[in-house]
Amino acid sequence: MPSVEKHEKFSGVYWVKEEGMEERLATRNLTPGVRVYGEPLVKAGGVEYRVWNPYRSKLAAAILKKIKEVPISKGSKVLYLGAASGTTASHVSDIVWKEGRVYCVEFAPRVARELLTLCEKRRNMIPIVADARMPWLSSRGGRRYLL
Ligand SMILES: C[S@@+](CC[C@H](N)C(=O)[O-])C[C@H]1O[C@@H](n2cnc3c(N)ncnc32)[C@H](O)[C@@H]1O
Repeated sequence: MPSVEKHEKFSGVYWVKEEGMEERLATRNLTPGVRVYGEPLVKAGGVEYRVWNPYRSKLAAAILKKIKEVPISKGSKVLYLGAASGTTASHVSDIVWKEGRVYCVEFAPRVARELLTLCEKRRNMIPIVADARMPWLSSRGGRRYLL
């Protein structure tokens, strides 16, 4: 039976603990019952979590390697440059939750199609199929994160 604990430093990030297994990172699933990239789903205390695979997501790997800061929490507005099909962006979407937004910029048509399907299910993810080098992106204010 797995147990889930809050990450000691980063809000919206959790540890899944299960006997005989290494601790795994996870985020609370914004869309219960729905996987994004085949990740395991874990239920604890009536809440569903998505295991966050560090081999598929550099942000998860960086957290496991004890990165000092992850400036994303519930309600954050994140501009995600190079979202691909949304693997990491979906975990960011879990972290910022319903109050936040993840603006996902991606220009490759094949992965952008998958991203669009994902964004239909995750209403806090906004797809922007465009080249991130276009000047209009840098002409706006606010904080941007390249993951
Ligand atoms: C390594 S993948 C990103 C994976 C993603 N960060 C994750 O962890 O799920 C890099 C993505 O950036 C996109 N990309 C690269 N340059 C771009 C640009 N100028 N504008 C938009 N997307 C770009 C690529 O098409 C590719 O899908």
